[in-house]
Amino acid sequence: MALFVFNSASKMVSSPLVIVRFLLICVTLLCNSLAEATMNPTPNIVLILTDDLDVSIGGMMPLVKTKKLIGDAGITFTNTFVASPLCCPSRASILTGKYPHNHHVVNNTLEGNCSSTAWQKTQEPETFSAFLQKHGTYQTFFAGKYLNEYGSKKAGGVEHVPPGWDHWFALERNSKYYNYTLSVNGRAQRHGQNYSEDYLTDVLANISIDFLENKSNRRPFFMMVSTPAPHSPWTAAPQYESSFPNVKAPRDPNFNIHGKDKHWLIRQAKTPMTNSSVEFLDNAYRKRWRTLLSVDDLVEKVVRKLEVRGELSNTYIIFTSDNGYHTGQFSLPMDKRQLYEFDIRVPLLVRGPNIKPKQTSPVK
Ligand SMILES: *[C@@H]1O[C@H](CO)[C@@H](O)[C@H](O)[C@H]1NC(C)=O
Ligand SMILES: *[C@@H]1O[C@H](CO)[C@@H](O)[C@H](O)[C@H]1NC(C)=O
Ligand SMILES: *[C@@H]1O[C@H](CO)[C@@H](O)[C@H](O)[C@H]1NC(C)=O
Ligand SMILES: *[C@@H]1O[C@H](CO)[C@@H](O)[C@H](O)[C@H]1NC(C)=O
Ligand SMILES: *[C@@H]1O[C@H](CO)[C@@H](O)[C@H](O)[C@H]1NC(C)=O
Ligand SMILES: *[C@@H]1O[C@H](CO)[C@@H](O)[C@H](O)[C@H]1NC(C)=O
Ligand SMILES: *[C@@H]1O[C@H](CO)[C@@H](O)[C@H](O)[C@H]1NC(C)=O
Repeated sequence: MALFVFNSASKMVSSPLVIVRFLLICVTLLCNSLAEATMNPTPNIVLILTDDLDVSIGGMMPLVKTKKLIGDAGITFTNTFVASPLCCPSRASILTGKYPHNHHVVNNTLEGNCSSTAWQKTQEPETFSAFLQKHGTYQTFFAGKYLNEYGSKKAGGVEHVPPGWDHWFALERNSKYYNYTLSVNGRAQRHGQNYSEDYLTDVLANISIDFLENKSNRRPFFMMVSTPAPHSPWTAAPQYESSFPNVKAPRDPNFNIHGKDKHWLIRQAKTPMTNSSVEFLDNAYRKRWRTLLSVDDLVEKVVRKLEVRGELSNTYIIFTSDNGYHTGQFSLPMDKRQLYEFDIRVPLLVRGPNIKPKQTSPVK
């Protein structure tokens, strides 16, 4: 059954909608029939969502353990595109399975419906987690960055816990690594800047491990871990602060050239970029990679914990990102939001029951 889902998925271009469709099919059909037909327990699902992780400019390179533990143990989709190359609209699509013109989250502000009261009223009751909780028998857990404006006073503050989540550890507002507030099931938990207590990627890893130890063993679980990395401000863990000293943004054929046949905005980019822009983007590129080393550790901790608990073979693990990134392509120093490969193409790795190891889709 799962194999069928992935065979048909592999024929199309995968998108967040594929992820959501997979989750829904799993809950409504597959899991129940699988459980009844084979007496296997209903599979668990872990979704690891990174922030601004590209696949076109080498973003997966530092994630050595992730590629081994998820991609090599299952399937790597190489044609995965997001519905919008911007955090909040893309996350809203991942959560609802809808395109932005249907969920109406148009940018990263409250006025643009990012975590707005209108979103809370019309869309949030229909996220896949709400369905998982309502129609499945899943225990649901969320940790990390939700929507950029989550926790805003005007939208209910951190007291607001969206429907569908039994265990809620969400970051107030946008990506940070230190000095942030988490909503712990609706109560503010303030964090400072002590590495061993507050570094957000590690806090998320620790909370996730805690959840795996605390949860009931009688019901399947859905766990979503949403890392702020590798989004700015790109603060590395102390042990990774000087990793990759010589790494630079790739000098691909589209690096630092004039995108003369591209749309208006891109044609305005100054070409060639100034040396200080190039230095800045190379530095950002290295810092992004350093933050990913902690994501790689998080993935390893979660996989190992599932393994020692004997739950790994019955758990789907999905690894992806909300949008890509660029550093110097067509002389755009750095950001996302453009309609080109580097910003819309994202990683998608999936392992789990009935998924054969070492597959790529499309087949190489
Ligand atoms: C925000 O969402 C509401 C409810 O879907 C919609 O009526 C409104 O037009 C949206 N705002 C924008 C700016 O799209
Ligand atoms: C976001 O979208 C809203 C509604 O269209 C608009 O009023 C606002 O200016 C936009 N903000 C940004 C930063 O694009
Ligand atoms: C955290 O906040 C403290 C106190 O406001 C400040 O001194 C420090 O620079 C901040 N650290 C980071 C990493 O933002
Ligand atoms: C950071 O936290 C650790 C563990 O709680 C503690 O031992 C250490 O003293 C703290 N460091 C600072 C500078 O507060
Ligand atoms: C995570 O847990 C480990 C092991 O208990 C601990 O050493 C580390 O300080 C914790 N990190 C954070 C940021 O909480
Ligand atoms: C796990 O249980 C401990 C002890 O009851 C509790 O303090 C902690 O918050 C729980 N963690 C999670 C992630 O549920
Ligand atoms: C910019 O860098 C290039 C290549 O490294 C070098 O040839 C050029 O002299 C530099 N320009 C300035 C103004 O420093």
